[in-house]
Amino acid sequence: SQDPLVIFTPSGKRGRFPAGTPVLTAARQLGVDLDSVCGGRGICSKCQVQPSYGEFSKHGVTVHEDALSDWNKVEARYDEKRGLKPGRRLGCQATILRDVVIDVPAESQVHKQVVRKRAEAHDIILNPTVRLAYIEVAEPDMHDPAGDLERVKAALAEQWDIPTVDADLHILGQLQPALRKGAWKITVALHQGNSDPAPRIMHLWPGFYDGTIYGIAVDLGSTTIAAHLCDLRTGAVTASSGIMNPQIRFGEDLMSRVSYAMMNETGAAEMTAAVREGMNTLFARISEEAGIETSLIMDAVFVCNPVMHHLFLGIDPYELGQAPFALATSGALRLMARDLDLSIHPAARTYILPCIAGHVGADAAAVALSEAPDKSEDLVLIVDVGTNAEIQLGNKTRVLACSSPTGPAFEGAQISSGQRAAPGAIERVEIDPVTKAPRFKVIGSDLWSTDAGFAEETAVTGITGICGSGIIEAIAEMRMAGIVDASGLIGSAEQTGTPLCIPDGRTHSYVLHDGRAEDGPLITVTNPDIRAIQMAKAALYAGARLLMDKMEVETVDRVVLAGAFGAHISPKHAMVLGMIPDAPLEKVTSAGNAAGTGARIALLNRDARGEIEETVGRIEKIETAIEPRFQEHFVNASAMPNAAEPFPLLRA
Ligand code: FES
Repeated sequence: SQDPLVIFTPSGKRGRFPAGTPVLTAARQLGVDLDSVCGGRGICSKCQVQPSYGEFSKHGVTVHEDALSDWNKVEARYDEKRGLKPGRRLGCQATILRDVVIDVPAESQVHKQVVRKRAEAHDIILNPTVRLAYIEVAEPDMHDPAGDLERVKAALAEQWDIPTVDADLHILGQLQPALRKGAWKITVALHQGNSDPAPRIMHLWPGFYDGTIYGIAVDLGSTTIAAHLCDLRTGAVTASSGIMNPQIRFGEDLMSRVSYAMMNETGAAEMTAAVREGMNTLFARISEEAGIETSLIMDAVFVCNPVMHHLFLGIDPYELGQAPFALATSGALRLMARDLDLSIHPAARTYILPCIAGHVGADAAAVALSEAPDKSEDLVLIVDVGTNAEIQLGNKTRVLACSSPTGPAFEGAQISSGQRAAPGAIERVEIDPVTKAPRFKVIGSDLWSTDAGFAEETAVTGITGICGSGIIEAIAEMRMAGIVDASGLIGSAEQTGTPLCIPDGRTHSYVLHDGRAEDGPLITVTNPDIRAIQMAKAALYAGARLLMDKMEVETVDRVVLAGAFGAHISPKHAMVLGMIPDAPLEKVTSAGNAAGTGARIALLNRDARGEIEETVGRIEKIETAIEPRFQEHFVNASAMPNAAEPFPLLRA
């Protein structure tokens, strides 16, 4: 009679194996993705499977309830000590008896899918650069002159099918005591980057290491540094944290930091030291939050704009301050963490994504990795707004990118009552089109300042100013309520019919909140505020429009707003101001911190690194500074929504 038929789900891979074959062996032969750290010794429990019955019986495959051999001793011991979920078996111990359908649960797959929260985003396939392998090493012998490392290599080849490995120098010093302490059993951490021909042993533990290892994905911004600590065995985010970039004391925005470096001989070096120190503070904090040692962080991925990139690497950003904006290098970088003074595992590797151009950095490359415009069927416009807007337009045949100097107005700077997005800042605004009275919400409170009918006041206290998303909503609402005209001029009380429009020098201001009676602030939107936002939005719009010209299109299919700013901005208000080209509102989505997500993808999947390096090579860079059309679009776009181009979808 024939050998039993084995079908694995969800892969659907199948084959016949002699009775008595371990499930793990069958899985390996069929190329089924079944995890193991201990190499089938019943120690790690990563190989758990769930025999499932009946599911395929309709299709002519008969399976039996006793299709796997009985619970063996190793499993029984494991179950007693650690407990196995009901119905679960250790794939390395259970052997096949008869035809069987075996389910490999998600957590037992090596290349697990790490699910992203957004519905339209692709999941991440877990395939990190660092992995663990437990081996049992032959003891030395007077008749065999092979060194300990050579016997470790032989064990990896034989037990893990890893034909060649290298070892870091520090490993050689640790190897002999570890082997003897672990009674010739050790667990090794192997690092293999996407372009490395063979893995390297970067760490070892005597015996079986039961813990996990971590990687960190860092979004190094000019204002904040944000990091996700990820479990490299599961792909889960263990902790997230952020700090202010300590370079702020050298200058609020990028250009002031570049000029600090130009004016002071040690300026660049000071800023390099500051950001690296800040990075270590952040790593210590996030590790403490997660309750782990920083030395368990074995891989780190960084994304950043070109100026941050150079300063982090210790390169003077001088050339980035002037045309033609030459980068010291635009390629992806693989460096030792210790070369960047980072206090994580002493042998940890780091990866810095490639830069797209002198103004379009590794952060934009990370956005491209996360949002994958190069794989999109429809034409997508991706806008990442900071002090520079980084804009990408494309689909699977062609992707263009540029950056546009929007300035810091969208972050609340240059605005009379402006502030960073922090508790106390007005972040949402509505204006009643009839009474022209405002209501608003501040960060840190769920309450609106008045009820939905704009009548009943609620006690919103601690108002300190208005942040970027707040000022955009305020101006868009003012435009819709007829308080400000298309050219950006605020009307007088007589013209608008509301006493909230007060004279302010030779123009008028609109009062959003008057807290002076309680010693609070007077928060107004002034004409210079509107001017600053008009300039910023015109730059953003002109950049997008320039890419559309180059692509020879009049419309885009969808718009993705990326970045912290994109996460907070309301698409409707952005469109009313003409910040982004006209598109159906439901086709405007927010991607949240897409650069941070891109960093996490590159951390969890080493093949994604090769992919983005290749994609960045294909993205066409457009330099706005030398394009006359950019100026034309800019001038046209300062009106709200703007002078020459129609916004038919907005009206509808
Ligand atoms: Fe480790 Fe089965 S492979 S317990």
